[in-house]
Amino acid sequence: MWVFLNGRILREDKARISPLDRGFTFADGVYEVIPSYNNKRFLFEEHLTRLKKSLNKLFIPCPQVLDELNSILSELHKKNGFKNQFFYIQITRGVQDIRSHEAESEILPTVFITSQNLDLNPYRNNPDKKGLSVRLEEDIRWARCDIKTTGLTGNILSSHDPSKSKVDEIIFHKNGIINEGSKSNVFILIENSILTPSLDQNILPGITRDFIIEKLRGTDLEVLETEVSLDQFRSAEEIWLTSSTKEIQPVQYLDDFELPRRNSQDYLWLEVLNYFNH
Ligand code: PDD
Repeated sequence: MWVFLNGRILREDKARISPLDRGFTFADGVYEVIPSYNNKRFLFEEHLTRLKKSLNKLFIPCPQVLDELNSILSELHKKNGFKNQFFYIQITRGVQDIRSHEAESEILPTVFITSQNLDLNPYRNNPDKKGLSVRLEEDIRWARCDIKTTGLTGNILSSHDPSKSKVDEIIFHKNGIINEGSKSNVFILIENSILTPSLDQNILPGITRDFIIEKLRGTDLEVLETEVSLDQFRSAEEIWLTSSTKEIQPVQYLDDFELPRRNSQDYLWLEVLNYFNH
């Protein structure tokens, strides 16, 4: 695999990062995941804007190389060769000689990018495929989930707990209100309205979430950015998960409960999936 590290494209096994990089010692960095179809980045500017916002919120200077990001990604796409890919872009505060909570002001951010094969959303060709299974859990994450930091212990902890069953996604809630998934945003369809938690809550402002809301606003369907209670979530007609790698995918199993099945052509999520025409 070809990767980009601090200004150079090189083979992954030749890429070297110091163990004193603050990304390693403090998870002191941010990231983005950008999908690319036929070497065309989907919602690139939106991802770049969010990346810059994440850096800004962590007081990490914006590396100049981001001015050329699109062409770097294009180059990586060609070198790695997969038709559809997703890019992982990680920027840390940089390498510090001595481990110390306070960073020295002169250190330079580390910029690391990989690209991997992106499987097409399996629901595109097979809408009857079994929906995803999810588990509800109390949200134990920190209070700045609006920043896309690499520190994701709170997101991944429960999926490594051997006492818990394997599910496709964990859905976090706090004080009886749904926030988001561990790696996706959520929407529900209930009584002819589409509801999604608002950005005032402790969630990531998902690029896919935004894209779907924009598209839905151009239709006669009602979409509300509002609180979603656990009760509403449990009685939803449809639950959708959205992310840059998932696009939109339906939930079928919620804890031990199966959502009522309908004819696949009656599902609203399938209509929304048509908005993604790569
Ligand atoms: N995850 N919420 C969380 C906690 C996420 O990690 C993600 C994305 C989303 C959806 O955001 P977007 O539509 O911008 O991809 C919401 C990425 C894909 C990941 O961590 O791999």
